[in-house]
Amino acid sequence: MRWETVEDYDAMSRRAAAIFLDAVRNTPSVALGLPTGGTPLGMYRRIVAECSTTHHCFRDATTFNLDEYVGLAPSDPRSYCAYMRENLFAHVDLDPSRMHIPDGLATRIRERNPGIPLEHALDLECAAYEESIARAGGLDLTFLGLGRNGHIAFNEPGSPFESRTRVVTLTRETRDANACYFPEGEVPSHAITMGVGTILSSRSIVLLASGSSKREAVERLRSAEVTEEFPASALHLHSDTIVICDEQSVA
Ligand code: PGA
Repeated sequence: MRWETVEDYDAMSRRAAAIFLDAVRNTPSVALGLPTGGTPLGMYRRIVAECSTTHHCFRDATTFNLDEYVGLAPSDPRSYCAYMRENLFAHVDLDPSRMHIPDGLATRIRERNPGIPLEHALDLECAAYEESIARAGGLDLTFLGLGRNGHIAFNEPGSPFESRTRVVTLTRETRDANACYFPEGEVPSHAITMGVGTILSSRSIVLLASGSSKREAVERLRSAEVTEEFPASALHLHSDTIVICDEQSVA
């Protein structure tokens, strides 16, 4: 695990965007794992800004988002699908047929299998997501945020390191951390997430951490203790992970 500590959120976002854009430039058919949440917003802003000034072609790239809430339609403004449209997809020339986000309603599977219980349809959705990643040749480069409790994607403490895409129950802590995005209701209790094992299969990984609210988690990650109780610690087992953190997140 390589560590880069940069001055602030802007510097972290610039560095992450540079890695993203280099990957697309060097390998136009790159398969990217993409995060949502507050942390990567600056990275996406930077990518979009660079695309409007310098020509970057995303046409042959494939993207797989890390996670999505169960129960939200892709059109729901609180869905990660809407987040991606707003912050990246609407601004770059990615091919819509190569953008993948788990469907938290498993709509296509339920249409094909009338009467199937939602729970079963969601399991099939997760299996299909893993198959799509495999068909794309696996993930080349995956970006991650860091949860205060050490989660990566929606893999909460206790997630098996060999886990693959599946439905998970969100902790109270994670739901509280994301409550600001749900001013008119409760944060969903379940989500579909790539597993820790799915993430570890990515050839390269970049984890981003910013701000004083992440200090404890960053410190724990630095301690190099590897435990399923702190999912991000699985990244110590990966041979090509960069952690980019800003000074505010380092105690
Ligand atoms: P945040 O979330 O970027 O909104 O802080 C990080 C995460 O939970 O992965």
